[in-house]
Amino acid sequence: MTSFDTVVVGAGVTGLTAAHRLVEGGQDVLVLEARDRVGGRLRTETHHDSDFEIGGQWVSPDQSALIGLLDELGLETYPRYREGESLYVDREGVAHRFVGEELPVAERTGKEIDRLVGLLDDLAAQMDPDRPWEHPQAAELDRVTFGQWLEQQCDDEEARDNIALYVGPAMLTKPVWSFSALQAVLMAASAGSFTHLVDADFILDKRVVGGLASVPEELARRLGDRVRLRADVQRIEWDPADPDAGATVTVAGEQVRARRVVLAVPPTLVQRIRIVPELPAEHRHAREHQSFGLVIKVQVEYAMPFWRDLGLSGTGFGPYQLVHEVYDNTLHRAEKGTLVGFVSDVNADAMGRLDEDERRARILASVASYFGEQALSPVTYVESDWQHQELTGGAYATSFDVGSLTRYGAKLHEPVGPIEFGSSDIAGHGFQHVDGAVRIGQRLADRILGR
Ligand code: FDA
Repeated sequence: MTSFDTVVVGAGVTGLTAAHRLVEGGQDVLVLEARDRVGGRLRTETHHDSDFEIGGQWVSPDQSALIGLLDELGLETYPRYREGESLYVDREGVAHRFVGEELPVAERTGKEIDRLVGLLDDLAAQMDPDRPWEHPQAAELDRVTFGQWLEQQCDDEEARDNIALYVGPAMLTKPVWSFSALQAVLMAASAGSFTHLVDADFILDKRVVGGLASVPEELARRLGDRVRLRADVQRIEWDPADPDAGATVTVAGEQVRARRVVLAVPPTLVQRIRIVPELPAEHRHAREHQSFGLVIKVQVEYAMPFWRDLGLSGTGFGPYQLVHEVYDNTLHRAEKGTLVGFVSDVNADAMGRLDEDERRARILASVASYFGEQALSPVTYVESDWQHQELTGGAYATSFDVGSLTRYGAKLHEPVGPIEFGSSDIAGHGFQHVDGAVRIGQRLADRILGR
């Protein structure tokens, strides 16, 4: 049986970062990836000669771990197009132009939005995102839904709906009645502040030339034949009487030995693998209380970025729209223009029940409520479909249900015998983002290397 210092399960950014650092630390490492490609939730597809990033794509200035890795790998970035006016589509479906971050809403609503942002900034400032369960108000914030918390704070419905949008549909991709206020504060603290979350120019700042999937591809290239594809790990067995002896990993009928195993898969996918002996009950429960959000990322390419000629940046928000946010997603130096929009949580459920043509018509009609009839005639239309992929199961990431972050959050970071667990979805800084995947991968490697 072949033996390694460490076997890494999963060739997403978490697993590949860990493997890369372990190899630099002198270890003999094997990466086992179930898919026929690396990158996990990062992937570029080509349609009609244009590239579309169907998973993660944006980098923000606070994401220092990812930015450091981009530098190390020699990858370049370019800014998102943001010149011109943004759009806000109101409850009646009327599009209003605006400049800057202040939405064109009634004065009172605007003031309430600012007040709520201030309250959430204060709560986020008191949180160490690596230990959200230690927040001074952790218990009370974790037992109310974010929707209830907003109702307790504010009687202006449109103000609440806009704040809800930034965390619910736009980030955790779940309805605001399904996750706790503490989980919402973690989302803000993980990005530095709530003000950062509501600032599209900050949070969606840059893209990587060639796509963010270049990160895992370049890491894998450097790891060479240490990465094995089509290797769906089925079983991991270790001996509690002798944990230092390591584990036996079974993949496609073959067995390999390792002193340590890094399970770099989303928490929800841990249960696909038979772990012997069974994980302790609290570990299983912790993962049972996590679930993927759901968003359909839609990219619509046009012969040219027609909105720019209308003085529009391509940025739009519509808390009452099927497509709740939209941005210019034109590729670096491309002539054709691309918009990206998002359909989230219950709207994504409803769209999933329609046939392809009807779904496309409804989504394009919503894009047209921002940009007018020209939006109805794209040259290419691409939807990402992570919810149908067994090796992901949703988008963007997983989060806890109400009350579970305080109850189980710390468990997800604990190793069991020779098995370490990692994912962007358990990161503090960079939670649910590629930056978090890099941080967790580096942290696990350092722990294994005894640093
Ligand atoms: P990831 O899920 O990527 O990797 C896990 C790997 O494990 C997969 O390759 C899987 O196939 C493999 N695997 C699972 N079970 C296995 C088994 N039993 N055996 C072997 N292999 C197994 N982030 C960001 O920073 N900016 C952004 O703009 C966005 N936008 C965005 C949009 C969309 C549509 C999505 C889906 C996601 C984003 N994200 C994002 C989130 C970002 O993509 C995500 O946080 C990281 O890519 C997750 O990396 P991980 O390595 O942790 O998991």
